[in-house]
Formats: sequence, structure tokens, C-alpha cells
Amino acid sequence: MRIILLGAPGAGKGTQAQFLTKKYNIPQISTGDMLRAAIKAGTEMGKMAKAAMDAGQLVTDDIIIGLVKDRIAQDDCKNGYLLDGFPRTLPQADAVTNAGIEIDAVIEIDVADEEIVKRMSGRRAHLASGRTYHVIYNPSKIEGKDDETGEDLVQRDDDKEAVVLDRLKVYHEQTEPLIGYYKALAKKNPNLKYITVDGTADIADVEKAIVSELGE
Ligand code: AP5
Ligand code: ZN
Repeated sequence: MRIILLGAPGAGKGTQAQFLTKKYNIPQISTGDMLRAAIKAGTEMGKMAKAAMDAGQLVTDDIIIGLVKDRIAQDDCKNGYLLDGFPRTLPQADAVTNAGIEIDAVIEIDVADEEIVKRMSGRRAHLASGRTYHVIYNPSKIEGKDDETGEDLVQRDDDKEAVVLDRLKVYHEQTEPLIGYYKALAKKNPNLKYITVDGTADIADVEKAIVSELGE
């Protein structure tokens, strides 16, 4: 199963990735998580990515496409994978299509901007695993600690309101066109499902809607 999760920053891609990767036994490939790991490790790529990420802008297509190509060539991706936060621009989507990669489902999680801004201030993240929580909507068992490792949760640097507004602007300008792109591809290709779910429902209901739309 090869899945693309599409949606604005904070729409719930990482949250829904947690159940989808378990259901299909596939790895989550989150370009955002990979970039945050590179920043933490102090690599050259991390240094290049940090300024763009802190400003809510995108990292260049070349870097991202190279990163994903290397990742999906690894052994654990043989039976599929879930792409979270990639592709995010038309050139990135073209790179996937031109590489002949067959995607089974594109899942669009739809949430209005006002709701996103409210959500981001309450998000807490476990950076090592990419697990995310919300102080009200999805609290961890022990406040400030990750459920599985007990390690500290942090607030992401790019979750400040001003940066969130810039990320939303970038989303509408550069990523939203992918909705039309994949809807058109799905019309031509019966093996590709395009699914839209209402991301403002409770987390468990979004999960149910995805399962029901996937029809599996
Ligand atoms: P990335 O890490 O991908 O961030 P993003 O797309 O902005 O998405 P988020 O991780 O912020 O949100 P999410 O949809 O995963 O939501 P979550 O599940 O956490 O990218 C970060 C940066 O890296 C980019 O800005 C860019 O600079 C760079 N980058 C990454 N990929 C790139 C690419 N391909 N090309 C170029 N640059 C790239 O949920 C959010 C909160 O809401 C959580 O607190 C959660 O608990 C809560 N929540 C989730 N669902 C619900 C619900 N149904 N009801 C109530 N609360 C909910
Ligand atoms: Zn995420």
C-alpha cells in the first residue's frame, strides 16, 4: 500500500499516520520529521533546512526529492509506505509520477485555517518518534511526557502563531494545487483512490472516515 497524506499544516497528517502505518504495516515517511532529525544531528542538510523551516517556508525541491528517493529505496519500503508532508509542490508531485511510482491512495484531510491556528498552540511533539499530542484534544497519559518512551514532549519552533500563518499561506499557494493534480490523476487511473475527509471531526472519527472511504 502506498499512501499520500495531503493537508494543511496541523490538519492531522501525523496523527492519522500513526494508525494507518499500523493498519497496513508500512513505514511513515515524514519529510518534516526527517528534516527535524537532520537539524538535531547538525548535518549540512539540517543547517540548510533550518532557516526555511523556522520562517514557515519550504525547503528546496531538489533537497527534498533526493531525501525521499533515498528513503524509499530502503528495504522496509518494499511493501509500501505512507508519505506525510510530501509531495508538497507540483515539481515534487511530478517527480513521483515521473519516477513511475504507483500510488494507491491520496487522502486529503480538510481543515479550515481558523481551526488550524487554534490547534497549533496546543500541539506537543515527541521529536525522536514524530508522535504528536494535543494538550486538550489528544493529551499524553502523563503531562509533558511521551506515552511510549516517557521522554519529554516539546513545542515545535514553527508552531508560533506568526509562523503558522506563513505556513498556511505557503500551503495555499504551493501545496493546494496538488488537490486538483491528484483528482485529475485519479480520474485517469482506476487504481488510484482520491479521498477527502473532514479533519475537524474527532480524531477517532477521522480515522473511521478514512477506513470507510478506503473501503478496506
Ligand atoms: P511538516 O512537519 O510536514 O509540517 P506540516 O505539514 O506543516 O504539518 P504538521 O506536522 O504541522 O501537521 P500535521 O498535519 O502532521 O498535524 P498533526 O497530526 O501534528 O513540515 C515542517 C516544515 O518542514 C515545513 O514548513 C517545511 O519548511 C519543511 N518541509 C517538510 N516537508 C517538505 C517538503 N515536502 N517540501 C519542502 N519543505 C518541506 O496535528 C496537529 C495538532 O492537532 C496536534 O496537536 C494533534 O494532536 C491535533 N489534532 C490532530 N487531529 C485532530 C482532530 N481531528 N481534532 C482535534 N485535534 C487534532
Ligand atoms: Zn506532521
